[in-house]
Amino acid sequence: MFIALILILAYLLGSIPSGLIVGKIFYGIDIREHGSGNLGGTNTFRTLGVKAGLVVTIADILKGTIAVLLAIWLVPDLNPLLAGLAAVLGHTYPVFAKFKGGKAVATSGGILLAIQPVLFLTMLAVFFIFLYATKYVSLSSMLTGVYAVIYSLLTGDRILLIFVALLTLFVIYRHRTNISRIKNKTEPKISWL
Ligand code: G3P
Repeated sequence: MFIALILILAYLLGSIPSGLIVGKIFYGIDIREHGSGNLGGTNTFRTLGVKAGLVVTIADILKGTIAVLLAIWLVPDLNPLLAGLAAVLGHTYPVFAKFKGGKAVATSGGILLAIQPVLFLTMLAVFFIFLYATKYVSLSSMLTGVYAVIYSLLTGDRILLIFVALLTLFVIYRHRTNISRIKNKTEPKISWL
């Protein structure tokens, strides 16, 4: 019963649409009507600039981190990764934003920040290396997921590996439209790196 409650709480936490809140309250803009239309950090950077983009990205990361830490503190019987997964589902299918949310990248990263901080930090570095090389945020996000799978494989932790592999597949699934745009050469590239 308590476990179900924590999972629902994690889902609701993940459902908080930070991009929508920051855009509407501070800029009077619904970021779903701009750029890629995605309710995530990248589209916030693109639409509202660096300050808003950073706030939304950090908030989205923290949703995953807090969900995992809450589970560790409150229900030691529950694998905290499941609470993180509930937060990711909330972030991608938010009950507070008509079930149309982000692409699972930042909140998944937040889970790893809580349980594998070294992996998280190296993922940040790897992400920027891929971004520098490709100029595509979406492709760099997916490739960073692949890196996380390889890292997890090397740890020998089978549960972590299964979990990270599932998250990476989900991240790739959520980037279907980006993949089509990359193929068509219509995906926007960043120009600042
Ligand atoms: O984190 C999402 C990012 O990888 C792509 O976002 O807005 O370019 O579709 P966007």
